Amino acid sequence: MCGIVGYTGTREAAPILLDGLSRLEYRGYDSAGLAIRNGTELARVVKATGKLKNLAEKTDNGRSLPGTCGIGHTRWATHGEPNQTNAHPHVSGNARRSASGPVESDVVGVHNGIIENFEELKQKLLNNGYQFYSGTDTEVVIKLVDYYYKKYKIGPVDAINRMMVRVKGSYALVLMFRDYPGEIYAARKDSPMIIGVTGEESFAASDVPAILKYTRTVYYMGNLECARMIPGSVTFYDLNGDEVQKDTTEITWDAESAEKGGFEHFMIKEIHEQPKAMHDTLNSIIRDGRIDLSGAELTDEILQKTSQVYIVACGSAWHAGMAGQYVIEDLAELPVRVELASEFRYRKLLLEKDALVIVISQSGETADSLAALRIAREKGIRTLAVVNVVGSTIAREADHVLYTLAGPEIAVATTKAYCAQLAAMYCLALQMALVRGRLDPERYTAMIEELLTIPDKIEKVLEDKGRIQWFSSKFANAQDVFFIGRGLDYAISLEGSLKMKEVSYIHSESYAAGELKHGTISLVEDNTLVIGVLTQNDLIEKTTSNMTECKARGAYLMGLTSYGNYSIEDVADFTIYVPKTDSHFVGSLAVVPLQLLGYYTGVARGLDVDKPRNLAKSVTVE
Ligand code: M6R
Repeated sequence: MCGIVGYTGTREAAPILLDGLSRLEYRGYDSAGLAIRNGTELARVVKATGKLKNLAEKTDNGRSLPGTCGIGHTRWATHGEPNQTNAHPHVSGNARRSASGPVESDVVGVHNGIIENFEELKQKLLNNGYQFYSGTDTEVVIKLVDYYYKKYKIGPVDAINRMMVRVKGSYALVLMFRDYPGEIYAARKDSPMIIGVTGEESFAASDVPAILKYTRTVYYMGNLECARMIPGSVTFYDLNGDEVQKDTTEITWDAESAEKGGFEHFMIKEIHEQPKAMHDTLNSIIRDGRIDLSGAELTDEILQKTSQVYIVACGSAWHAGMAGQYVIEDLAELPVRVELASEFRYRKLLLEKDALVIVISQSGETADSLAALRIAREKGIRTLAVVNVVGSTIAREADHVLYTLAGPEIAVATTKAYCAQLAAMYCLALQMALVRGRLDPERYTAMIEELLTIPDKIEKVLEDKGRIQWFSSKFANAQDVFFIGRGLDYAISLEGSLKMKEVSYIHSESYAAGELKHGTISLVEDNTLVIGVLTQNDLIEKTTSNMTECKARGAYLMGLTSYGNYSIEDVADFTIYVPKTDSHFVGSLAVVPLQLLGYYTGVARGLDVDKPRNLAKSVTVE
């Protein structure tokens, strides 16, 4: 969740690290810090609470910290409250230091992840004379490296390896050692870490956007590996301290896609990038009017043999899975269960041997989704990852990978990655339906043709954003919002509701429309906003009745439907229309006004929509 950047090279490190951190701020933003070394001088550490701009101001945009080697961190607190003491970097020394002076420490480091046995390790270190100044697990792990380094009089790689054997949990660590100026060491287990090397410079980062400006050629660190970086070179080691040879991966994302490009926020930019995300994803899978899953090595035979599908994911990816469930069940007549990854991993599900477990994830690093994937693999069940970030852990560990081509998504609230996930699920459903003989070839072809029109239809929906902006300002002070729908409309409501609460902080709930009267309707009172999603023709009447029940209790009704369903206006106080399309794909259109509604409501309330409080883009802890 936290963002990490490291640099060693020929240029001033601090401005490069601040720039890299600014591109990772979506990973955490309750405090930030830098440790910079100037030649053989001791590292100087500066930290600030709140957004990264506070750290930039405190260091005069890095100018007050000269030196060509350094590490930086932007934090999403797990252990210890978000204050300056708990901010990273942390040091192995015992004494409290002045605000930005040099630190008398042999090891200084930054960390992303959770050290599960940190209490036990802390006690061991206390018994050995260490003192602790923070409430973090990170300080413990850095002092543990220091302990082994001194006790056994070994080098950094061996000390880190000893730490890795002892520590339980997940981590990406970047460290500097006082005796090794110009060198940076990295270690990882279950938290992402990439290394980029170009010319006379080396970079470490927890995510690609941090270093995209400098290099597109990266190494992905493996689990329980350690790396030693010097300017322009990196060496990887395994737990035995033996060198590991690695290939580089070329990142194809262009640097502009990680910039705001004239938009006020990343979220609205990414909402507008959905036609492209969908177009690119569809066109990577559809060739000559047919779905081609050979890139994911998913043969017709595998799909024919599949007896049950489990879709496992978190948050919005889980919502995409919900939509996928309705489409696969309806088109392919294949049983599907959609599971929250955090539940799946601890349930003793009896998985069928011919099942396919589909893990959906934008980041490919979500801890619960990764754990679920590993459980399925341990049980010998075939796994398919639907992932956006190339080379991410989930992508690397799954049996099959279907990449969504949404490009880098920076706003914490997902929009275009979710849109691309829907595209991938439609393609899977259509191909499953064809090879299982549930869809005749003519209808299959016609549905693919219709699917390819969706990107243009999303453009049409975006043209209507002015009305949604107006409506958002009208309800910006709402206390509660309820989203209701049935079937696929319910899946889309779930996503609309999450967008609303994530970025506007207004309490919102999504209910299967028929379920409302079993309790939740007691919350509806005068002027409560109830948003009905009504795109499934066979269910419109039913949901309309549920909306009428709310209206009778004083609710203000917004209807979201396709052009042609004008009778909704007899019930709804405000109606938004999306273009007509096949009912299986209409969710890709209906979700757009709901994303805009969340976005504009957050903006109207003056909130930081790209970095909502308490959230992180990539949830790499349990
Ligand atoms: O990277 P992932 O797709 O695995 O992330 C899953 C969720 O954490 C993510 O969708 C989250 O719910 C977003 N904040 C939603 O906007």
